[in-house]
Amino acid sequence: MSARIARVDPRPLPFPPELLAPGIDRAAPAFEQLLDLQDLPPGALRRVSRGDLDVLLAHTTDGVVATDDRCPHMSAPLSIGELDGCVVTCPLHMGSFSLCTGDPVQMPTTGGLDPDGVYHPTWSPSGSDPKTDPPGTKAEARRLTRVRRLRFYPVRVVEGRIDVALPQR
Ligand code: FES
Repeated sequence: MSARIARVDPRPLPFPPELLAPGIDRAAPAFEQLLDLQDLPPGALRRVSRGDLDVLLAHTTDGVVATDDRCPHMSAPLSIGELDGCVVTCPLHMGSFSLCTGDPVQMPTTGGLDPDGVYHPTWSPSGSDPKTDPPGTKAEARRLTRVRRLRFYPVRVVEGRIDVALPQR
């Protein structure tokens, strides 16, 4: 006779309160089911869309988290990037971002401004001459693009369901 092993739902990953996504009622978040937990195994990234809102669900080593499925650099989908621990790497310019803190871990290869406004030059392979930004408005736009911090949606995991609080329209 085999003993039943109680399943323990993973916990939601806490996030900095100042990074709550706009439109969420902090006092009474309106949760709705976005996914079954079995569809988000450890290490997985998934996009779930509601209207024009694309939400990234990630099962990190520290818990389950929900953010916008938009890179803080130029809005590429993080859901088709790579997750390592709680760091997600964007598939477009290889910037990486911590889903634990909302901060950039590595600036994107195209450079730009970090959240504090510090400029980072265009990335160059090690051992090669530094790349210079080309002239023109496109280069200026790239130089002035600010990498922002992620915004988070509250999550709860209950009996195999992943519920996320979304903005009320
Ligand atoms: S869009 Fe993600 S690093 Fe540039």
